[in-house]
Amino acid sequence: MSYETNSAIVVLYDSKEFKALDKKTSGQLSSVAKMKKFDENETAEVTISFPSKVNVDSITVVKTNATSDQDWRDFGGKYAKAYKGKADNLYFDIDGSHNESIYEGAMLALYTFNKYKTVKKDDANLAVHIDAVEEHSIHESVYFARDLITEPGNVLYPAEYAQRINDTLTPLGVNVRIFHQSQLESMGFDLLLSVGQGSTKDSYVVVMEWLNGGDERPTALVGKGVCFDTGGISIKPSAGMGDMKYDMGGSGAVVGAMHAIASHDIQSNVVGIVGLVENMPDGNAVKPGDVVTSLSGMTVENLNTDAEGRLVLADILTYIQREYDPSRIVDLATLTGAIVVSLGEEAAGLFTNSTSWGEAVKSAGKKSGEDYWRMPMGKNWNAMIDSDIADMKNIGGGRNGGSTTAAEFLYRFVDKERAWAHLDIAGVCWDAKGKVTVPAGAVGFGVRTLFNLVQDTTEHSIDEDMKY
Ligand code: BES
Ligand code: MN
Ligand code: ZN
Repeated sequence: MSYETNSAIVVLYDSKEFKALDKKTSGQLSSVAKMKKFDENETAEVTISFPSKVNVDSITVVKTNATSDQDWRDFGGKYAKAYKGKADNLYFDIDGSHNESIYEGAMLALYTFNKYKTVKKDDANLAVHIDAVEEHSIHESVYFARDLITEPGNVLYPAEYAQRINDTLTPLGVNVRIFHQSQLESMGFDLLLSVGQGSTKDSYVVVMEWLNGGDERPTALVGKGVCFDTGGISIKPSAGMGDMKYDMGGSGAVVGAMHAIASHDIQSNVVGIVGLVENMPDGNAVKPGDVVTSLSGMTVENLNTDAEGRLVLADILTYIQREYDPSRIVDLATLTGAIVVSLGEEAAGLFTNSTSWGEAVKSAGKKSGEDYWRMPMGKNWNAMIDSDIADMKNIGGGRNGGSTTAAEFLYRFVDKERAWAHLDIAGVCWDAKGKVTVPAGAVGFGVRTLFNLVQDTTEHSIDEDMKY
C-alpha cells in the first residue's frame, strides 16, 4: 500500500504486513510489541505515533481474537470510529479473508444523518482503504434504508417515499411500478386504503421487479411502510409517539435489499412490494368496529385502528401472490409492541409455515449479525382472530399472544403451498443507544439478511415441509 498524509494504519501483529512495516521502521513495531508483551497475551493493541520512515501519523498494531464475521465487522467499526475526525485516511494494512467484513463494519459504523443540522456535527470524512474489496459495498444499501427510516414523517410521506424509491432503484435496472391511491381504489386495495383514509396524504403501493434469474419462481419481499403511525382513532399515548416515524422500517429493509440485489447484479428473480400509508385520526378516518373488504375478498372487522400494519400487509400479500406466483415470501414489519416484550432489542421475531425457509432466514441473518428467534403459530391462536360479524378481526382480544395473533392474521392471506416467513422487527429496527457498527438511530435491520437470503437460496432449497 502507498499512504497519504494525515493517515492512520491498522496492522495485525505478526502478519506479513506487520513484518514489512517493521522492516521499514527498522524494528520499531516489533520492539514496541515486545515491550507490551504481545506474545504473552491473547489480545493486545499499541499505537505508535509518527513512526520513523513511514509517512503516516500513526500505526496501530493489533492482536485480536476475532473469529466470526461479526467480530471482524466490529473490528472495522471500532477503528473507523476511533479515527473519524482525527485522520483523513484509515488504512487497514491487512491481507486476509476478512477484509470484506472489516470494510463493511467500518462503513456501517461511519454512517451519519446530518441534513437537518444547520451547524454540522459529526461530518468529518474518513476514507477507509483496504485491499481486495469490490466496488459496490452493501453499506450503500444499508445507508439508503437508514436515510429513509430516519427521515421524519413530514418529509417522507407516501408520495415522497415512492418517488425516492423510483429515483434510486430505476437507474440500477429495477423495474419500479408505482400505484397511486386512485389506482388502488379501482384495484380493490380497500383494506390498505382504510388505514390511510384519515390522512391528507395519499396512499401508495410500490412494486419493484428484479427478474434476472431465468424461469424460476420469484422470491417476494414484502414490507410495511407506515410513514407515521399515530394509532388513528385508537390513538397512541403521546410519550414516545415520535418513534412511529420508523414504522416504515420493514419497507425500508425491502427497498434497501432491492438496492443491494440490483447493485450486485444478482442472478435471481425477486419482486419487492411495499404498502405506503400514514395512519391518522380524522373525521374521515376508519373507526373501531368498521368492517372492510380486503383485496382477497375476505372481510375484516377493525376493532383497533392501531393494529394497522397487518391490514396494509394483507392487501400487498394478496397482490404479490396473484401477480407473481412467488414460491417463497418474506415480509418485514414493525408490527407489534408484544414482540418487543418477548424478545427485547436482541432479536426479531420469526414466524413461518416452513421450517426450511425459516432456517434459511436464520442462517442468512447469522451471516449478517442479525438475529431471528422463531415464535410459535397454530390453529388455537388463529381462532383468536375470528370475528362475530366478519371473516376475522384485526386484534386477538386482549394483549395476550399479540405477536402470534398478528402473524396468524397475515397467514390468513398467504396461500398455503407457499413458503412464507414473517419477521416482526419492531424491537430491532431502531437502536436508541447504538452499537459498534450501528450509530444510534435507524439500524437498517434486515437489508443484509434479505440480500444474503436471496443469494443463498433457490426454489429447491425449500423442502416440502409445510407444517402449518
Ligand atoms: N407500529 C406499531 C408497533 C410498534 C410498537 C412498532 C413499538 C415499533 C415499536 C403497530 O402498528 C401497533 O401499534 N401495534 C399494536 C397492536 C395492538 C393494537 C393489537 C401494539 O403492538 O400495541
Ligand atoms: Mn399501530
Ligand atoms: Zn404500526
